[in-house]
Amino acid sequence: MSASLVMGNWKLNGSLESIDQFAEQWRTKAPSTSAEVVICAPTPYLLHLHKQLPELGLGAQDCSEHETGAFTGEVSAQMLFEVGCRWVIVGHSERRLYHGETDSVVAAKASAAQRAGLQVVVCCGETLAQREAGAQFAVVEAQLKASLASVAVSNLVVAYEPVWAIGTGVVATPLQAEEMHLAIREWLGELYGTDGRSVPLLYGGSVKAESAGELFACDNIDGALVGGASLEAESLAGIVAAA
Ligand code: PGA
Repeated sequence: MSASLVMGNWKLNGSLESIDQFAEQWRTKAPSTSAEVVICAPTPYLLHLHKQLPELGLGAQDCSEHETGAFTGEVSAQMLFEVGCRWVIVGHSERRLYHGETDSVVAAKASAAQRAGLQVVVCCGETLAQREAGAQFAVVEAQLKASLASVAVSNLVVAYEPVWAIGTGVVATPLQAEEMHLAIREWLGELYGTDGRSVPLLYGGSVKAESAGELFACDNIDGALVGGASLEAESLAGIVAAA
C-alpha cells in the first residue's frame, strides 16, 4: 500500500515571509508523486499561499457550523471555498481541548463543510490516560460515531490522531496506528456500508520523514496529517516522498 493524501496542518504558525520561503523551497524539493498534497494554513494566509503554490491543495483548520449571521470571529465553509479551499479539518483535539468543541459541534461543522462543497477531515483520538486505561477503542468509537452524526460519506476523510502523539515526538507504532485504523474502517462500514469502508484514513501525530514510510506501508493507512514537520518544505517533501 502507499499513501494517497498528505495534509500539512500549520496551526498557528507562519507569516507572509515564511510562506514565500516555503514556496521557493517547495518548488525545488517537491517530489514527483501521485499523492495529493494539501496545506491547511491560518485563514489570513490562505489566498497568499494559494497564489504562491497553486499546485498544492488548499485547506483550512476549522470552519463555522453556521453559514452566515451574527457570529463574530467565525469563518464559514462557503467563505473558505470561495478563496480556494477544497479541504477543511474539523474536530482537531486542540479545538476540542482549548475551545470546548463537543462531538455534536464537530458533526455540525462537518455537515456545514460538506454543504459548501469542501472535503472534510474529521479528527478523533484518545488521550494517554485513556490508552493507559485500555479504553482507546471504546473512546475513539464513541467519539467518531458522535462526530459523524448526519455527516455524509462523500467528501469525508477521517484522521486518527492520538492526543499523546501530537507535537510530542512520540509517534504511534505502525501496529498501534494500523489496529486503530482497521477498527475505524469497520466502524465506518457499520455507519455507511461499503462506501464507508473506502473513506480515506489519515494518521496524525509526530509524523516525520523517517517514520512515514513504515506507517504508509500499513494496509489501512491512506496518508498523514502532519503538524510540525509540514512547516518546512524539506521535511514535508520527505514525507511526501515516502507516500
Ligand atoms: P504533529 O501535529 O505532527 O506536530 O504532531 C499533528 C496534528 O496535530 O495534526
